[in-house]
Amino acid sequence: MSEWNAVLYDQKHHFVSKFGEHLVDLLSPQKGESILDLGCGTGDLAYEISKYETIVHGMDASKTMIQQAQTKYPEIQFTVQDATQAFVHQQFDAVFSNAALHWMKSPKAVVQHVYDALKPNGRFVAEMGGDGNISSIVTAMKASMEELGLPYIESYFPWYFPTEEEYSELLQRAGFRIEMITLYDRPTPLVGENGIQNWLHMFSNSIFQDLTASEKEEVCRLCVRKLKPQLYQNNTWVADYRRLRFVAIKREG
Ligand code: BEZ
Repeated sequence: MSEWNAVLYDQKHHFVSKFGEHLVDLLSPQKGESILDLGCGTGDLAYEISKYETIVHGMDASKTMIQQAQTKYPEIQFTVQDATQAFVHQQFDAVFSNAALHWMKSPKAVVQHVYDALKPNGRFVAEMGGDGNISSIVTAMKASMEELGLPYIESYFPWYFPTEEEYSELLQRAGFRIEMITLYDRPTPLVGENGIQNWLHMFSNSIFQDLTASEKEEVCRLCVRKLKPQLYQNNTWVADYRRLRFVAIKREG
């Protein structure tokens, strides 16, 4: 995903950072620490981390997200940077990442860059979509496109949802010791009556990239119909998120 609608993101998808607040507890920021928020989006969690009197640096590949973050939190330093390139800023006590690593499709390079950016014994605390994440939504998108005679192209799938084993191996190979790693279901309520439509419009542009506007509308309509029995509960859309959460420590030397 190259560019984001940062305003729409803040209006309709603020649950992303709300859920991330628990991850900040796991990070347990200490006064004076220097902490990188990798894939910081519009900066809400970087701001939460800054409340612990830390020196926070927010980084995101999206210019529009960083512009919005900088406007909201002018006292925090934010940088536009793609995590698949070596980080300009280095030597952090901790790297934190919420709901961002699954957008980075060169995970080996990303994990290596995180490792390089940490001080010895520095910690990498993160949560991302894991194996099986949003499987009902993906199944509905595929089935809807097929039903409408539109090609579903595998290489347009924009996410990386690893298993515990896969990501553990990546971390260990880079030189991390894993303190904890867990894959768990986290059903996630979406905002409003059109929650699933908004979600599809915000996040599925890559999959729908060859469709005309009206084809996209048709696919979304069909997806909504298919997903309603599974994901619409008590007047609320609930997405079938499954998270991979971990704490990993950079080994010395
Ligand atoms: C997630 O946070 O799991 C997610 C968000 C948007 C698209 C795909 C996954």
